Amino acid sequence: MTLIETIQARRSCRTYDGRSLEGDAVAQWNRFLASNTEGPFGGGVRFRLLALDELGPEELSQVGTYGVIKDPRHFIIGAVATRPQAMEDFGYCMEKNILQATAGGLATCWLAGTFRRSGFARLMPLREGEVLPAVSPLGHAGESRSLTDRFFRFSAGSDKRKPWAELFFDGTPDTPLSPATAGPFATPLECVRLAPSASNKQPWRIVRVGEDYHFYLSRTPGYEKFGKDIQLQNMDMGIALCHFELSAKELGLNGAWRRDASRRAMGDWEYIVTWVTTP
Ligand SMILES: Cc1cc2nc3c(=O)[nH]c(=O)nc-3n(C[C@H](O)[C@H](O)[C@H](O)COP(=O)(O)O)c2cc1C
Repeated sequence: MTLIETIQARRSCRTYDGRSLEGDAVAQWNRFLASNTEGPFGGGVRFRLLALDELGPEELSQVGTYGVIKDPRHFIIGAVATRPQAMEDFGYCMEKNILQATAGGLATCWLAGTFRRSGFARLMPLREGEVLPAVSPLGHAGESRSLTDRFFRFSAGSDKRKPWAELFFDGTPDTPLSPATAGPFATPLECVRLAPSASNKQPWRIVRVGEDYHFYLSRTPGYEKFGKDIQLQNMDMGIALCHFELSAKELGLNGAWRRDASRRAMGDWEYIVTWVTTP
């Protein structure tokens, strides 16, 4: 599977088949997670793979998803120290885990709301200044989706994505960018469009100016449910940066992230970062 095919294939899965990872998969995952610590804005992201089979009854009682995730055997837990753009970096790194799993035939589901944050934090003790933004089950998908899974997909409209005209713009927010006019970047943009986001809100807005792509966050009003340190939609933005960068690189399109301090908000879209195309 190419990375672009992996992005196209990924879906959230809330129903697992109760089987643990086999062979040396756990060791491989531990190596991968240990190497995945840096996002476009900095480092300090860390992950732990939790194997439920290895937990005692007291530890196991801390693992809760309010019945949303059925029959998981493993979870990826993550932490990051709070700082500007920490949530984007966390989103970027966690999404690399999700894509690594998808490419290896494993299922995942981002959980930033429906999990017992304090219980998981007991299993990955936080250092000074750290938060635990999200976790994901990791494992083999169950044969059929549970009722809860189908309910979540239906209520979030998970199979739908906003059209290009609402997400991508040419020069100014009044001019939509179409796949035909996006040239070689049509695929990286489509990979952003397919990305997962909290409640499928898709808060990314991208404006092309010359060869540069400016990323803006259009916040859903009233959506910062988890306090000032855990910002769901900044995590969504990190996921978008991950999809854009990895798919561009797979296509041989070079560039780098740059935060342009002089760039201002556009209406109520908050400026986050620019992909600067390089030869
Ligand atoms: C940051 C983030 C947080 C999420 N939190 C939850 C959650 O708490 N519970 C849940 O069931 N799904 C959660 N999701 C999954 C989204 O609902 C899902 O990605 C979206 O509906 C699109 O569906 P898809 O992933 O199958 O493409 C989250 C996704 C993201 C990116």
